[in-house]
Amino acid sequence: MTYYENIVILTGAGISAESGLDTFRDKGGIWAKYDLMELATPEAFARNPDLVHEFYNARREGVKKVSPNAAHFALAQLEQSHPGKVTLITQNVDPLHEKAGSKNLMHMHGELNKARCLTCHGVCTWQDDLSRANICPSCGQAGALRPHIVWFGEMPFHMDDITICLEACDLFISIGTSGSVYPAAGFVQTAHGYGAETVELNLEPSDGDRLFSVGHYGKATKIVPEYIAGLIKQD
Ligand code: OAD
Repeated sequence: MTYYENIVILTGAGISAESGLDTFRDKGGIWAKYDLMELATPEAFARNPDLVHEFYNARREGVKKVSPNAAHFALAQLEQSHPGKVTLITQNVDPLHEKAGSKNLMHMHGELNKARCLTCHGVCTWQDDLSRANICPSCGQAGALRPHIVWFGEMPFHMDDITICLEACDLFISIGTSGSVYPAAGFVQTAHGYGAETVELNLEPSDGDRLFSVGHYGKATKIVPEYIAGLIKQD
C-alpha cells in the first residue's frame, strides 16, 4: 500500500445505517416515507413551519437513542494516529462522528443539534424540540429559529474550505453515500482531477462508481474498519 499524506473522507447516510438511522434513498428510506418538497426546502418552511419542525424534532429525538458504530470509530482512530492530515466531510446531520471522537470534521449539510436564527443569523446548540414559540438566545427574537440544516436549493456549508482540501489531498475516500446529491457527488472528480487516488466504500456500487479507481463493497461496520486498518498499518 502507498503512504498517503493528506486524506479527505466524505461520508453519507450509509455509515450511520448500522447505528439505526435510516438512509434517504434505500428501500424504505426517509425520502420514500416523506415528501422532501414538503419538508426539506426553504419554501416548505415558509409555507408550513410547524410541519417542518415536527419532522426535524422527530429526527432530533431519534439521534438521542443511537451510538457511533465501528465505522465511525475507525475514522476517528485514523485521524488520531495518522502522521499526515485527515479531513472528514460529512453530509450527515447526526452527531455520530463527533461522538466517536473525530475532530477535523465539517458538517456540509448542517447539524440536527443546532438551530439558526433567521433574524440575527446566530447559530446555537439545540438538543430538544424546536417550535415557533422558541426565542433566539442571541437576539431574543421569538419565532425566527429554524433547524440548522441545508435544505434543497440552499448552498452547503464550508464549500471554500472543502474545495481547498479536495485540491490538496492525495487520497479521497467516499463512504456510504449514493452520490446523487451535488456538490458532494462531484467531490470525487475534483480530487481525481488534482491527482488523488479515489476509493469508494459502500454497500453496493453507487451511481458514480466508475469515477473511483478502487471500490470495496459491503456493510460499513465491516469494510471501513478493514480498509482503515490497512491504511494505519502503512503509517
Ligand atoms: P442515500 O440514502 O442517498 O445513500 C446511502 C448510501 O449508503 C447508498 O448508496 C446505500 O447503498 C449505502 N448504504 C446503506 N446501508 C449501508 C451500510 N450498512 N454500509 C455501507 N453503505 C450503506 O444517502 P446520502 O448519499 O447520504 O441531504 O444522501 C445525500 C443527501 O441527500 C443527504 O445528506 C440528505 C439527502 O437528501 C439533506 O438532507 C440536505
